[in-house]
Amino acid sequence: MKSVLKVRDLQVSYGLVQAVRGVDFQVRENEICAVLGVNGAGKSSIIKAVLGLIRSQAGTVQFPEGTDIRGMPPHRINRAGIAWLPQGGQIFSTLTVHENLLMGAFGREKTKETLERMDGILERFPILQERSTQVAGSLSGGEQQQLAFGRALISDPKLLILDEPSLGLAPRIVQRTFQLVSDLRSEGLSILLVEQNAREALKVADYAYLLEVGQVAGEGTASEIESSEEVQRVYLGAEAV
Ligand SMILES: Nc1ncnc2c1ncn2[C@@H]1O[C@H](COP(=O)(O)OP(=O)(O)OP(=O)(O)O)[C@@H](O)[C@H]1O
Ligand SMILES: [Mg+2]
Repeated sequence: MKSVLKVRDLQVSYGLVQAVRGVDFQVRENEICAVLGVNGAGKSSIIKAVLGLIRSQAGTVQFPEGTDIRGMPPHRINRAGIAWLPQGGQIFSTLTVHENLLMGAFGREKTKETLERMDGILERFPILQERSTQVAGSLSGGEQQQLAFGRALISDPKLLILDEPSLGLAPRIVQRTFQLVSDLRSEGLSILLVEQNAREALKVADYAYLLEVGQVAGEGTASEIESSEEVQRVYLGAEAV
């Protein structure tokens, strides 16, 4: 199957700290690809480098396969079809729900496509319709997350990158989130799902990579990875028995 995103030998350093040390992975079309790693493994650094939000020192970021977008500015990468859900959602708490959604369509707020997408998003997340004129900071955690998803989806991406979408949410909301991720894949999106929550991520993922201190330490289908000794020990440990 064709790759939507193909990353080769990606390297990211912060001064002397080498956070990403030559990482290779790919997201295939219409697949949920999980990248699993503990705190500080380099997950967000990889995402931000792919999105052009931080500089990478070496490698290629092909989107789609054959087109290197590394070094392109973030707004062009977004236009090309990659949207993301930042770690923790990072909604603009003093802007209204409606204004937050429009931020995801930056530069194209008034186009017919954006208005149509807005309707679709408000239909998918009725609470956002109800709270449209409220400031986003007044929403609950679960509602803020729906807003973050809506803001990402309004640009009509081909590839959606999710940075730990389950972080800090109540179990019920976590379930709903992974259901949404799975629904979006059914609708044709390709998804890069970065998570510490291996148990839930592997339930919806097709393929997974294990990231350890900035390097890929293993990869395989979700079921292969789930049964691997490494995942049982590091991620599923005590809970698994
Ligand atoms: N802006 C920065 N300046 C210096 N070091 C950084 C910076 N951002 C991240 N790092 C370091 O790079 C490494 C990888 O961090 P990163 O945030 O990519 O990990 P992560 O897997 O997303 O972790 P978490 O699960 O906590 O979000 C860590 O050692 C971190 O301390
Ligand atoms: Mg992170």
